[in-house]
Amino acid sequence: MAHDDGGTTAAAGSDVEKIGQSTISGGTAVIAPDLPQNPGLPPHRLRVTDLDPKAAKVAERRVYTLFYVSIVGSIFAVAAYAAFPIKPGDPGSVRLNTVFLGMGIALGLLSLGIGAIYWAKNLMRGDEISESRHFTSERVASRERAVEIFKEGNQESGFGRRSLIRNSLIGALLAFPLPGIVLFRGLAPDHSPVPALEHTLWAKGTRLTHDPSGAPIKASDVTLGSAFHVIPEGLLEKEDMLEQKAKAAVLLMRLKPEDLNVSKGRENWNYDGIVAYSKICTHVGCPVALYEQQTHHLLCPCHSSTFDVTNECEVIFGPAARPLPQLPITVDSEGYLVARSDFHEPVGPSFWERS
Ligand code: FES
Repeated sequence: MAHDDGGTTAAAGSDVEKIGQSTISGGTAVIAPDLPQNPGLPPHRLRVTDLDPKAAKVAERRVYTLFYVSIVGSIFAVAAYAAFPIKPGDPGSVRLNTVFLGMGIALGLLSLGIGAIYWAKNLMRGDEISESRHFTSERVASRERAVEIFKEGNQESGFGRRSLIRNSLIGALLAFPLPGIVLFRGLAPDHSPVPALEHTLWAKGTRLTHDPSGAPIKASDVTLGSAFHVIPEGLLEKEDMLEQKAKAAVLLMRLKPEDLNVSKGRENWNYDGIVAYSKICTHVGCPVALYEQQTHHLLCPCHSSTFDVTNECEVIFGPAARPLPQLPITVDSEGYLVARSDFHEPVGPSFWERS
């Protein structure tokens, strides 16, 4: 069935098309005189639901029942997620959770899909239509025709008329994302990670030790221009050693005390020119492992952020937004380097709750 688009006409086999009042030339297109004829569409065969209102009513009932079943399936999935929680170390709980959650989601999606197909096949308009493609235009006639098409679509699908189908479909569409939302919520950690990010293993009196041997470092071993990779004493015995190391890793360097620009309140954070800074880049957390002893610059190999050790590791190049946090240090009675305290700010990249 061909549609006339608000005054648009097209002449088959002609090289000229008229749209509204304007005439558009076929240009240089070659139009063969013996074009094959359009065979047209096969004759439309009416369905039982087109002929029998009772059958249409039954089909309508089936469609909205399927949509309601979809709502029930989605709600069941959410309830199953709460009723059968996954318990750490219990594979049985994982199986129960997965089976019931999967059943609910499958029921929700399958019923929604089958309902939509059944609706389209039995109740929506069943004859094929074709529509000529025209130039897009901003003309009022085109806009009016677009509105008309929407109205026709509504009429043919029965979306506005069949209120039970419409309401159950809206309910099913609202319910089916719920299990997904609940699952995403389940990915969040049980407790806030912020306290863990704010503190490291460093504490008052913790010795600075070589990474990876764990041997304590004497201040006298740190010569001018040298740099050490450092971990806190006792780290190697920790069960979560890698997690702790990811926060507590430190770089130790010795400069001439007169080369250091020390801000107020940090006068005793270095020991005779020996300074310790977090090794975790404040950009996205790569280890800052390159020390350039002539310029006293620390370089992050990931995105080239550069920190100036003489100026409390302020950023002088690259995407990092904050200086590397400094670990206040001193020596104990045996001359070993020890921390004065933990870092005074969280190490590593920024996070929302960082103060
Ligand atoms: S992680 Fe260091 S510059 Fe990006």
